[in-house]
Amino acid sequence: MATALIAPSILSADFAHLARDLDRIGNADLIHVDVMDGHFTENLTFGPGMVTACKRAASVPLDVHMMVSNPDETIDWYLDAGADMITVHTEASTHLHRTIAHIKDRGAQAGAVLNPATPVGVLEDILPDLDMVLVMSVNPGFGGQRFIDGTYAKLARLRALCEAVGAAPRIEVDGGISAANIAQVAAAGADVFVAGSAVFGASDPTAEVDRLRLLAQEALDARGDVRS
Ligand code: DX5
Ligand code: ZN
Repeated sequence: MATALIAPSILSADFAHLARDLDRIGNADLIHVDVMDGHFTENLTFGPGMVTACKRAASVPLDVHMMVSNPDETIDWYLDAGADMITVHTEASTHLHRTIAHIKDRGAQAGAVLNPATPVGVLEDILPDLDMVLVMSVNPGFGGQRFIDGTYAKLARLRALCEAVGAAPRIEVDGGISAANIAQVAAAGADVFVAGSAVFGASDPTAEVDRLRLLAQEALDARGDVRS
């Protein structure tokens, strides 16, 4: 049975009180770190120093989402900084197979990311090599955006493709997830849930992580398929 993982995005944390906010999500399954370069996305966020700082301050594994134009040029910075998992955008990677192999060779988990306009079919030949697929449910760049409803059907297409090729990667969804929709996102096929504003905007982020996980797990249990 699939296990729901909650990955709070520190993009919505208070950077002036980062240690405090990391403590508040000490019960999370992953910490989602949004690396943006000001080119692939118009926004500019964190470099490897942030990953080093999070690694030092938190014991939760780090899920580094690379929204950068030339990921091959900088992936090693983030691996050296302690990333436990790295996801790379299909739209930004020319040699995705080699990039995924490199991340895994360095001992981290590797995932590929799909923007909202990128069809799941581009993953067909790489799916068996992936630990995770990240489906963007907003256009990358900012926290607090509205979940794109077409994501539900896209998740169903991704699950069908995974079955067709005999692959079982984790499926992560990122953008606009909250207690209002997480059960539906889980029912559609996801098992890893990024939540930024929903967690850090809550009066009790620790309780919100537990609440989101419970809602997602109930939906996964009701789905009843077999995934690890
Ligand atoms: C958007 C980022 C997200 C963002 C999610 O480009 O990849 O991880 O932090 O924030 P919310 O959950 O507020 O939509
Ligand atoms: Zn992200």
